[in-house]
Amino acid sequence: MAKFYITTPLYYVNDVPHIGHAYTEVAADVLARTERLLDKDVFFLTGTDEHGQKIAAAAASLRIQPKELADRMSARFRKLWEKLNISYDRFIRTTEKEHENVVKEVFQKLYQKGDIYQGVYEGYYCIHCETYIPAGQLLEGNLCPDCKREVSSLKEPTYFFRLSKYRDILLSYIDENPGFIAPTQRKNEVISFIMGGLNDLSFTRRNCAWGIPLKGDFTIYVWFDAILNYLSGIGYLYHQESFEKYWPPDVQFIGKDIIRFHDIMWPALLISLSLPLPKKIFAHGWWKIAGEKISKSKGTVISPDDIISEFGTDPLRYFLMREIPFGADGEYSRQAFIKRYNSDLANDLGNLLQRTLTLVENSFNGKIPAFSGSWDERLKKECLSLAKVIPQIESLKYSAALTEIWKVIGLANRYIDEKSPWRLAQKEAAPILYNILETLRIVALFLKPFLPTPSSEIAARLGVAEEFKKWNLKDIRWGALPGGRKI
Ligand code: ME8
Ligand code: MG
Repeated sequence: MAKFYITTPLYYVNDVPHIGHAYTEVAADVLARTERLLDKDVFFLTGTDEHGQKIAAAAASLRIQPKELADRMSARFRKLWEKLNISYDRFIRTTEKEHENVVKEVFQKLYQKGDIYQGVYEGYYCIHCETYIPAGQLLEGNLCPDCKREVSSLKEPTYFFRLSKYRDILLSYIDENPGFIAPTQRKNEVISFIMGGLNDLSFTRRNCAWGIPLKGDFTIYVWFDAILNYLSGIGYLYHQESFEKYWPPDVQFIGKDIIRFHDIMWPALLISLSLPLPKKIFAHGWWKIAGEKISKSKGTVISPDDIISEFGTDPLRYFLMREIPFGADGEYSRQAFIKRYNSDLANDLGNLLQRTLTLVENSFNGKIPAFSGSWDERLKKECLSLAKVIPQIESLKYSAALTEIWKVIGLANRYIDEKSPWRLAQKEAAPILYNILETLRIVALFLKPFLPTPSSEIAARLGVAEEFKKWNLKDIRWGALPGGRKI
């Protein structure tokens, strides 16, 4: 069985999750579910990033210990993923002992190799981004070029990673592996950044006690710590069999805010460790409100918990995957959400199901009419052609895939209107209803990765709950809905 390894970023535990975090998580979940339905052995890794100054500061302002904040917030993320029906295989926390050991051991390996060396860092540090910023890159007024917050200045002994050494190696790797950094716009940004020159990267902190301790009063830089979760999470150095089975990642999901760490520092580290590189690192865009990235510190947080209590889990999953093409930025609005909810879910899909089942209930004693007569060739053809959404999902064109599925739903709605089976005698109505029910069965199958609960409910109402658990996406057949089942 082919393996498929998927990762998400590890979210900071300085605050509660918001809709941006839910977005990455749902996107990764849709791919994980799809690959499982294609009979792959999927490993889906997610978790929380728990060390560093940002979290220490958040804890201090609440007058609690950083570990206590991490415990609390990490649990919040896990609870939300449960509500959102996220099918991860492992939730890693960077405060786990084994992860910490991997980080220390990798540090030693790189030091022994000569890729980590001692020096002095002099420059700036943005606590919010947990990023070192060379003097030349500051915005006026000592502001971080990314988040535009005030930075602090640092001059301290440190251990550097020889990132500069990897400039040409990275450029040629990116050139030779066109699918590695995606989408293309991000790849171009990364290339021009690398061309601008790479500085060696400080991999330790002084005076930041909340981190993995090294000798002296050094602790490990939180980004070096966190990025290694992609190795430790599948057993690097400790569970060789699992590591060898799943490495390298097939798709790593990130937001475009963290491409430099993932598309430059991370591959350089892997090359230094002589490990194969991930097949694809995909950076999606930002959900914005009034043109600004949704962010806790700007107070523009939309709570996924609130949306779920008002509308349910699957409508949120649907909206996130449908509303904007994966990779682009988009505006979040309640109006847009409600519009999708009403038109796509309630009207198009909900009504089609409801009115068809009502006819079956009233005219066929609640039993699926056994097929006789003729297939509707158009519906049959369009349903079978839904196989095209598999490569769309695999290339992360989620919105396009859903659009294709909704075209079929639209076609079935027009078909039932045209044929008006409620006006027909049982014998003529039977094949028409069967064609629609079979369409609903196939639509439910393709919706399974996006809307796990409603799709199973549709199957259950069609009387095929058990079969639905076993059907995969590879052997879609027309006409497989058994007649005579009680709806
Ligand atoms: O960066 N729109 O964690 P983080 C879309 N711990 N996605 C968003 C978003 C928005 N407005 N806001 C956040 C970190 N995200 C590090 C990562 S990985 C080894 C360490 C999503 O809590 C998006 O995926 O700031 C982004 O990259 C991630 O949350 C950042 O989460
Ligand atoms: Mg962030």
